[in-house]
Amino acid sequence: MMDMWFDIIEGSKTLLELDDARIKIIGKNGELSKEFANLGKLPNAEKKAFATKLNSQKAEITTALNNKKILLEDEKLKQDLLDDSIDVTLFSKYKQAGSLHPIMETMDYIIEYFASLNFDVKYGPLAEDDFHNFEALNLSKHHPARDMQDTFYFKDSHLLRTHTSPVQIRTMLKESFPIKMISPGAVFRRDLDLTHTPMFHQVEALVVDKKDVVSFANLKDILTDFLKYTFGDIDVRFRSSFFPFTEPSAEVDISCIFCEAKGCRVCSHTGWLEVLGSGVVDDSVFKAVGYTDCSGYAFGLGVERFAMLLYKIPDLRLMYEGDLRLLRQFR
Ligand code: PHE
Repeated sequence: MMDMWFDIIEGSKTLLELDDARIKIIGKNGELSKEFANLGKLPNAEKKAFATKLNSQKAEITTALNNKKILLEDEKLKQDLLDDSIDVTLFSKYKQAGSLHPIMETMDYIIEYFASLNFDVKYGPLAEDDFHNFEALNLSKHHPARDMQDTFYFKDSHLLRTHTSPVQIRTMLKESFPIKMISPGAVFRRDLDLTHTPMFHQVEALVVDKKDVVSFANLKDILTDFLKYTFGDIDVRFRSSFFPFTEPSAEVDISCIFCEAKGCRVCSHTGWLEVLGSGVVDDSVFKAVGYTDCSGYAFGLGVERFAMLLYKIPDLRLMYEGDLRLLRQFR
């Protein structure tokens, strides 16, 4: 009998089969349990020996059942893990395409526009030194114009660049003119209110060639073309201004695209929106990089401002909140 029971236990292929075997052998009405019922019929002298034998058989069967159970549970766990394993190389049915952020979308647009006019695209470090960010751009240590650009300083006299103009200094120090470049990227200023964030993006441009080859007239042309191409049927106006690194300097306005220059909240009822800083490169800049007998122009624009105008996004804060309701509109 015992041999047959061990065979049944060993032959169980699943936990369910094993449980059936347990019921069949040592369950309430199991075959071994029935033998216990026979105890009563035996003469007293044989009872003890028979009971001892049955109990040790039951113990052996129980041990065999438990060992087999551990084995089958282990196999089942391995099989479950195999069945549940995820093939990460499979293509998902639910591919969700993301989208470029409107700031990057705008930046790419501006880069592509000027790249198509043969401007080189140059990048530089975000952590700059005083020379490249200020000194070489005619902003000496105590120049009052440094107040225009509240700066984040590191302990070791490095700083977070306040504009992308230092990339132009780096380029001029490395290469000789003619230079025709734009420098896109993030810039940092200690500013935070409704219309300013501590980090924002710029695209600045620099064109340098032999003396009198490039002029303010070229600057006006290229910017007027760019702004009309970008915003459509608008007026462009150059307003005299000041930057330490350009002379003469001009801020550039476009007629308000929200009210068609009639005057609204966005343009502060002036009919004009300021979009660019520009000018003819000051000689002191050329001196700082060792250029002589040349002339050039430069301009710089804020990418966030362009994005807000292009997509009519009314509030700068929306740009940085990562709200999917806004971002999904740019798929
Ligand atoms: N560097 C200036 C700024 O960040 C922008 C600018 C560039 C102005 C070139 C004039 C010419 O404010």
